[in-house]
Amino acid sequence: MKIAVIGSGIMGNGIAQVFATSGHHVTILDISNEVLRKAENTIAKSLIKLSQKDAKIVPSEVLARLNYTTDKQELRDADLVIEAITENIEVKKKVFRELDELCEPKTILASNTSSLGIGDMAAVTNRKDRVCGMHFFNPVPLMKLVEITATDETSEETIQIAEMLVKQMNKESIHVKDTPLFVVNRLLVPFICEAITLVEEGTASPADIDKAMQLGANHPIGPLWLADIIGLDTMLHIQEALFVKTNDSKYRVPELLREMVARGELGRKSGKGFYQY
Ligand code: CAA
Ligand code: NAD
Repeated sequence: MKIAVIGSGIMGNGIAQVFATSGHHVTILDISNEVLRKAENTIAKSLIKLSQKDAKIVPSEVLARLNYTTDKQELRDADLVIEAITENIEVKKKVFRELDELCEPKTILASNTSSLGIGDMAAVTNRKDRVCGMHFFNPVPLMKLVEITATDETSEETIQIAEMLVKQMNKESIHVKDTPLFVVNRLLVPFICEAITLVEEGTASPADIDKAMQLGANHPIGPLWLADIIGLDTMLHIQEALFVKTNDSKYRVPELLREMVARGELGRKSGKGFYQY
């Protein structure tokens, strides 16, 4: 199949990589060539690492299936377009509107959103039956799950195609209703925000909070390290969406998270978050 990925940041480059690894031709679109070159580099490094553990992965073959562009016209004949751009509903709706006009009627439009309504994106298109959520996890090449989200109007055929694509990647899917934050983030993000509140209250240092959850609860990595990996701007957008959608004060955004994002401390991608990189 011809796949297109919009956004080549933390998630977009991983998503493009796993689609190409499972045999599909993938076009990746972003707003500048500089960002695209960075993604190309990240994908190449990741493939080399993975090929050392899995002889079936041949980096040169996978890289040959990837094409990088800043020109939306190149997405026109894709069978499936998945967006992994900034977590902002207005920006995503604009992209869905443009894709609906640009792409052939057969094209499925998917979103990797962490927290926004798939129905809200589908509503601006004339193909509500061919819109779904495909929520990958970070780091995409290593994480096994994809949450598949259907709205009331998503067709069974669209879901079956999404399921088949996930299977081809040797990943597992779960089905989840179009509800605030789906399953994983609904549980994970408030937990990470609670850890941020502990830092804010001076209960313990980030390193000790992370050590506590790694050694005391057997988590593979601590919540603050994970927040830095996810990106603090993305964390802020997700928790804010949960708070707005539920109007429940237990989901308020920690002030410290807002302050860090305002200072440009976005975690690993900006060089500073709860840790220095
Ligand atoms: N590509 C290829 N290889 C990679 C890689 C990548 N992108 N990232 C890491 N690796 C490699 C490492 O280099 C390492 O290789 P070596 O063994 O050769 O040194 C190997 O994979 C293992 O990595 P780590 O040493 O970092 O160790 P690990 O055993 O901790 O495994 C992990 C990595 C499974 C990702 C683990 O760190 C983990 O479970 N982290 C938590 C991830 C998580 O919770 N993700 C969900 C975030 S929430 C989300 O994604 C949803 C959202 O909407 C925000
Ligand atoms: P990121 O900031 O790393 O990357 C976003 C990319 O989108 C950037 O390269 C940016 O240039 C590009 N972009 C923005 N607007 C664009 C447009 N109109 N057209 C083309 N490209 C555009 O973000 P990310 O962490 O990769 O997150 C992307 C999406 O994936 C978000 O919806 C986020 O909630 C979701 N997500 C993130 C994680 C995570 O751990 N970071 C995990 C799962 C899902």
